[in-house]
Amino acid sequence: MLSRRLFSLANLRGTIPSDFHFVPDFFSVSEQRTLLSAALERLDAAGSRRFQKRRKNSRSKLNTAAAIYEAPLSELFLPDDCYEFLQGHYDGVIHNYREMHLTSWPTAEFPGLVPALSRLQSVLPSSNIQTHLLHLASDGEILPHVDNVSASGRWILGVSLGSDRILRLESCANPDEVAEILLPSGSIYIQSDTVRYQYKHSILRNSAFANGAGQRMSIMIRDVLEHHSHTNHS
Ligand code: OGA
Ligand code: MN
Repeated sequence: MLSRRLFSLANLRGTIPSDFHFVPDFFSVSEQRTLLSAALERLDAAGSRRFQKRRKNSRSKLNTAAAIYEAPLSELFLPDDCYEFLQGHYDGVIHNYREMHLTSWPTAEFPGLVPALSRLQSVLPSSNIQTHLLHLASDGEILPHVDNVSASGRWILGVSLGSDRILRLESCANPDEVAEILLPSGSIYIQSDTVRYQYKHSILRNSAFANGAGQRMSIMIRDVLEHHSHTNHS
């Protein structure tokens, strides 16, 4: 399979655990543009008036010619100071980001969205899902963690859009067991079972590599935790 060869190129270090699945080129550039535009629209609409105004001013200064030729994906992001990124607490896992729980996609405004999302849906391990948008600033990062086991179920899917970042996986039992994977724009990964519960994951702060210096959007999809009836109703 072609993606195996690409997979080995993306693997920067270590052995990828078997419950980690990766497709480096899942979304076409045009699908990426649609998904990123829709995600930015949703986050922007939820933001404060002050920053909405900043974005409006910044957009009116941009050359309108950029809208005519197929501008690179990175140009969909405005400069970092147009977004109200949170620094995150000193003990927080994510730094320099904004995020939201997504309840619906703006499918009416973005005609390409439905086909792109239905392709994504076809690879989900199960269908009762919750979606988050996570926008990292140019200097944003995610420190090593295991996703809260009481907030979602046994798999986590991440869509990467925008600037390249490195995902690091590290075994909780054996911290020397580390793998690093380059996540290009348009890639998707799934962490399930062993990886989801027994490895910490992190997104490294951008480094000097060519496509890695800018902002990144991830669409995080998780399965809803099935609640069992052993709850104590005392
Ligand atoms: C998270 C997370 C990874 C990513 O939001 O918990 O680990 O690829 N995100 O953005
Ligand atoms: Mn996580």
